[in-house]
Amino acid sequence: MADKGGLEGVVVARSRLCSIDGQNGVLVYGGYDVGDLAEHSSYEEVCFLTLYGELPTKEQFDAFLSDLSGHRALSDETAQVVDMLASHAAPMEMLRTAVSSDSFDDPDKDSNDAEANRRKAMRLIAKMPTMVARYARRRAGQEPIAPDPALGHAANFLQMLTGERPSPAAAKTFDVALILHADHEMNASTFTARVIASTLSDMHSAITGAIGALKGPLHGGANEQVMHLLEAIPEGASVEDEIRARLDRKERIMGFGHRVYKTWDPRAVILKRFSRRLADESAEPRWFEMSEAIEKTVVGEKGLYPNVDFYSASTYHYLGVETGLFTPIFAMSRVVGWAAHVIEQHSDNRLIRPSSEYVGPGPRSYEPIERRSQAA
Ligand SMILES: CC(C)(COP(=O)(O)OP(=O)(O)OC[C@H]1O[C@@H](n2cnc3c(N)ncnc32)[C@H](O)[C@@H]1OP(=O)(O)O)[C@@H](O)C(=O)NCCC(=O)NCCS
Repeated sequence: MADKGGLEGVVVARSRLCSIDGQNGVLVYGGYDVGDLAEHSSYEEVCFLTLYGELPTKEQFDAFLSDLSGHRALSDETAQVVDMLASHAAPMEMLRTAVSSDSFDDPDKDSNDAEANRRKAMRLIAKMPTMVARYARRRAGQEPIAPDPALGHAANFLQMLTGERPSPAAAKTFDVALILHADHEMNASTFTARVIASTLSDMHSAITGAIGALKGPLHGGANEQVMHLLEAIPEGASVEDEIRARLDRKERIMGFGHRVYKTWDPRAVILKRFSRRLADESAEPRWFEMSEAIEKTVVGEKGLYPNVDFYSASTYHYLGVETGLFTPIFAMSRVVGWAAHVIEQHSDNRLIRPSSEYVGPGPRSYEPIERRSQAA
């Protein structure tokens, strides 16, 4: 196969964290199938598994939960950063900056050892939802809502965002979405985090860089683009015709295609089920119906399958989450995967420093500026 660039098929690390079978659409975290975890586990338990390599005992889990819920509140300084950014920064700009600034007072900031890194990871997992919810409320001119230690990670976030206690079904749906986004092998943002960690830089720098990589529409930013696509199709229009027209214009349909999956992304299969269920209970079933019509057209026309971002868009929309928060929500779930990869990189490090093939001009001698005639 000719090298198309993009490091396709290149193995850049040995990892115990997560594996993908792209031909059969299987995703496994530490040996556990993601479907099994989505059905029986919780985001917090998946965090423990990802950070420690094993599912917790009851005692370990209780201690982990209490640590996690005890760190949800933001420091005054980070809260001020979030408030300051609410009026003029976009959601991912806020998150990138707030996470970076949260390192200033982190008690473990000068240590890269595994335990210090796990503590930093735990604090980031706990705090990022508070940053996102606080920002969203400030932006809407509302008072922030304090974290509720009685609630699980998913339910607490929804309550901090909306001000209302979510139904058990809504909390479960959101929890599953968080589980499905927790880790994903050597995706672009995880690779970014590992490259940064490989210089022996710190956890917060790696996570800040990863947030920057996730933001792009070819990666985590795709979920918001999916919602924009759904909204751009006029009510009553033929979804098939709209999508075919875009494909004829060589536009990419966001939420489809994947570097590794050559069939259904298993996360999309699960999210489709949740989106359908929410649509059945909603006064606006059209978001799911349109999504399904788009899916049929793109699979039929291009042989490209939905990825995680496709059905997460309608799922979040049904849960009442504004579109601009979709990618920050991806980041606040993926932070555990990034952090675990940073720990793994630090535990067996060699600087990641690939090479490039030079295709520029041959040797030439320097001309003083007054003798240069050719414009660049
Ligand atoms: C994810 C993605 C970047 C992976 O792509 P990749 O492995 O780098 O594949 P390429 O970009 O080389 O695309 C290969 C071909 O498929 C086409 N293609 C890939 N994804 C497409 C999409 N979503 N819509 C339309 N065409 C697509 C490309 O145009 C290209 O066609 P060509 O060979 O005729 O030029 C790509 O599928 C994409 O852009 N998807 C939309 C964004 C998205 O959903 N991202 C989230 C990923 S989880």
